[in-house]
Amino acid sequence: AASTALDRRGRQLHDLRISVTDRCNFRCSYCMPKEVFDKNHRFLPHNQLLSFEEITRIARIFVGLGVRKIRLTGGEPLLRKHIEALVEMLSGLHTPDGEALDLTLTTNGSLLARKAAALRAAGLRRVTVSLDAMDDAIFRRMNDVDFPVADVLAGIDAACAAGLGPIKVNMVVKRGSNDHEILPMVRHFRARYGSAVVLRFIEYMDVGATNGWRMDEVLPSDQVRQCIDSEFPLVALDAAQPGETAQRWAYRDGGGEIGFISSVTQAFCGDCNRIRLSTEGQLYLCLFAGQGHDLRSLLRDSEGAGSARHDDAAISAAIAALWAGRSDRYSELRASLAPSVGPAQRRVEMSYIGG
Ligand code: GTP
Ligand code: 5AD
Ligand code: SF4
Ligand code: SF4
Repeated sequence: AASTALDRRGRQLHDLRISVTDRCNFRCSYCMPKEVFDKNHRFLPHNQLLSFEEITRIARIFVGLGVRKIRLTGGEPLLRKHIEALVEMLSGLHTPDGEALDLTLTTNGSLLARKAAALRAAGLRRVTVSLDAMDDAIFRRMNDVDFPVADVLAGIDAACAAGLGPIKVNMVVKRGSNDHEILPMVRHFRARYGSAVVLRFIEYMDVGATNGWRMDEVLPSDQVRQCIDSEFPLVALDAAQPGETAQRWAYRDGGGEIGFISSVTQAFCGDCNRIRLSTEGQLYLCLFAGQGHDLRSLLRDSEGAGSARHDDAAISAAIAALWAGRSDRYSELRASLAPSVGPAQRRVEMSYIGG
């Protein structure tokens, strides 16, 4: 059956990440640096975006190919108008066995206090919130639009109250920028939520071509873990699912779980089961891919009068063929790629393809 298709490295498709907008109200320097994403930057015009119907159609095809987890990303996905309508459409999809999908969303939390209840009502299962500091001044500097941390914290509270938990909180650690915030974050989330929030530390990555990434600004997860362990002793947990991004650890005192996403120092391409769909319907086989594959024209083609060339079965076959040919493993190769031959100039931006 199509749903058992493996790529060229034996990896099974499982996780579809859908970017619903390339816009964001933050300007995190590691993602959308202000100097690049300024008033002259041209975001996608509305007619280039996939409609909710198109997204849902693609998602249904992907479920037929074995996808069991769908994550909405951006940019900032809550900026997309009527996003809860899309959530409702996607929550109507089921696996061939009649089971619900793992339907989730990654947000910067700025609009979450306002939207959490509606998202839950529309069928969203859980959320992941990005948060890089507890300290208001540092947080305002990290998002670079002077956005107050209190509003994001209120968003996390609202998501918990709405039943969108357990919530994951992702912190990108940039040495020299927010590494002093690691312990304050740990203390806050342990004390306030216990195991209802899983805090995860992400190594700063060289995604895109605009963030001026430098290895000396990466704080390896081993060091982050040692720092936490010295105040709150930790014990390693087994992976919950194959292909997970995070290494899981628990506080020895039973205070909950944390995670480390170490794409730079401990690449996890070996069982990477993720595929990414851009806002305009380009399919990317890797976060670091130089180019995507145009699904939108397949979708829109099939709407031509009387044409059955690109019905769902044909689109499914096209996707299956792309997956079967996939051999990407950028993070494993990063260290051995000479900077001059790296694909940096063509690499897709994270704000376009989503985290
Ligand atoms: P959960 O099921 O909630 O654990 O989801 P997840 O870990 O797959 O997704 P999440 O969006 O929380 O990913 C967290 C971060 O990990 C992203 O923002 C990226 O920084 C990084 N990440 C996710 N997927 C990949 C990947 O395939 N490759 C690399 N290099 N980094 C990734
Ligand atoms: N390195 C690591 N993670 C990044 N993200 C965005 N840019 C980077 C980067 N350069 C992730 C963060 C953010 C999510 C939307 O994408 O987790 O919260
Ligand atoms: Fe926006 Fe998230 Fe990128 Fe920050 S990391 S600019 S919040 S999309
Ligand atoms: Fe998957 Fe590419 Fe990330 Fe490796 S670098 S884990 S192949 S998305």
